[in-house]
Amino acid sequence: MTSHKIPAHVGIIMDGNGRWAQNRNMPRTQGHIEGLKAAKRIVKAASDMGISYLTLYTFSTENWKRTQEEVGFIMGLVKKYLMAEFEFYKENQIRIRFTGNLSGLPQEIADEVVEACEKTSHFSGLSVILALNYGGRDEIVRAIRKIIQKGIPENEITEELVRLHLDNPDVPDPDLIIRTASEQRSSNFLLWESAYSEFYFADKLWPDWDAADLKAALDNFQKRTRRFGGITA
Ligand code: IPE
Ligand code: IPE
Ligand code: MG
Repeated sequence: MTSHKIPAHVGIIMDGNGRWAQNRNMPRTQGHIEGLKAAKRIVKAASDMGISYLTLYTFSTENWKRTQEEVGFIMGLVKKYLMAEFEFYKENQIRIRFTGNLSGLPQEIADEVVEACEKTSHFSGLSVILALNYGGRDEIVRAIRKIIQKGIPENEITEELVRLHLDNPDVPDPDLIIRTASEQRSSNFLLWESAYSEFYFADKLWPDWDAADLKAALDNFQKRTRRFGGITA
């Protein structure tokens, strides 16, 4: 694998936790526990492969529609494990970052997220961007609000200005977006940033993912020709 073809930023729509559990006659919540284990495996693999940014779609602005039990369980996992993995972050120099609507999260979860971001901000390796209470449309609306609050005049509204008001303007757009568990849709993930992302859809359910699956996605990505609207020589 030639290093210059390693995508700088990979986004993952981690889907299929519920089906993984249902296939085993287990409660959906068990699927989320296994999904979390997969997330740790993939974070380690991405770090080892030299990826710079990994955005993990953890909870969407639409996922509040689920039962209170399931929502509470997912939030509970964040609370229980986000900071508990600090030694893992330190060992691998993993920086935790956030994208999403922080003010719409329960206070104790928001506090946990902020703490994880602060305590890992000096780590120099892979940035793991937690997309939690994230919606692509919501991110764009929040960007527009910030622009209006600053009183920026109409003639100064450019694509670059909008981009600079998104959640993490220093992070490059995702080169590759992976979705697991057979669904082929974006479900409101990184709408602005994915304009020229390569998409990779896999049938395997998220809790079954390991380093070899990420490697297969990267191998596939390396065979793509990205034109960005131009023409290939
Ligand atoms: C993805 O798995 C995790 C979240 C959306 C939080 P799902 O819970 O959507 O699993 P399926 O799609 O029902 O199998
Ligand atoms: C997208 O998965 C959200 C996350 C993976 C966090 P969903 O399971 O919520 O998406 P839909 O409902 O199938 O589109
Ligand atoms: Mg799903």
